[in-house]
Amino acid sequence: MSDILLIHGGAGSDSSYVPRLDKYCHLSFKGTALDMVVNSVVMMEDDPVFNAGTGSVKRIDGSIQMDAALMEDGKIGSVAAIEKVKNPILVAKMVMTKTPHVMLSGDGATSFARRMGFPEYDPSTERTEEIWRKTVAFFKGEKVDLPPRYEEYRKFQNMFSPNKDTVGAVARVGGKFAAAVSTGGSSPMMRGRIGDSPLPGAGLYAGSKGAVVATGIGEEIVRKMLSYRIYEKIGSGSLKSIVKDIVGEFGDILVGVIAVSEKEQFSMANSNMATYCVEK
Ligand code: GLY
Repeated sequence: MSDILLIHGGAGSDSSYVPRLDKYCHLSFKGTALDMVVNSVVMMEDDPVFNAGTGSVKRIDGSIQMDAALMEDGKIGSVAAIEKVKNPILVAKMVMTKTPHVMLSGDGATSFARRMGFPEYDPSTERTEEIWRKTVAFFKGEKVDLPPRYEEYRKFQNMFSPNKDTVGAVARVGGKFAAAVSTGGSSPMMRGRIGDSPLPGAGLYAGSKGAVVATGIGEEIVRKMLSYRIYEKIGSGSLKSIVKDIVGEFGDILVGVIAVSEKEQFSMANSNMATYCVEK
């Protein structure tokens, strides 16, 4: 069985992101499946073009709260709405390895990060400031250049994500699987909102049959429990047909998936989604 690492730059990321993913995928291709997914996600968190770690989008109130999680067979670590850390995925790994819990959220996650030695860090960038300034102006009723999806958010009928979303990685090494995901969330969003990414079964799932990571509109991914539903069907048909069937249920609602099983790998989104894969 070959070893494989498959990563994505988010539903909405176009092919101009592929050279970065190519670099991060090759640099991360060493160690265990868990090492590969965590290291590749750290590199994407550190690259400000992605909405994860540095470059995470702001909430409506101007704060940045991030979600990240990792999983391998029987082990989960997750942080939700964590603030002022550089690499949420590394804190999620500490939750898995240093606590009896599977998930920490909000202030508790942030203070745990400090106790583990992660210094205070501001993940905002010029780009995220600009998006936030426009969002504030929009909610004040000013005319600003924002996608029409913001109108729908105002009515609370639907939730929409920015052009670039969650980053994620799935890997198979020596027949073992791992998944990791990190995001600044889906803008515009309220403080305290938690999306799919930190929720096992929704934003990610990994077990003895494979690994799955989702990206897109977190609320709908949670409602449909996307990652676990794909995982549980592994073995019942081709990975491609399983992913296509379930992604098809989303209609026009933004969603993307990367997945690996014992023999296959597949990625699919209903918009652009930059991915890169190394297999040896
Ligand atoms: N898929 C990321 C989020 O909705 O938060």
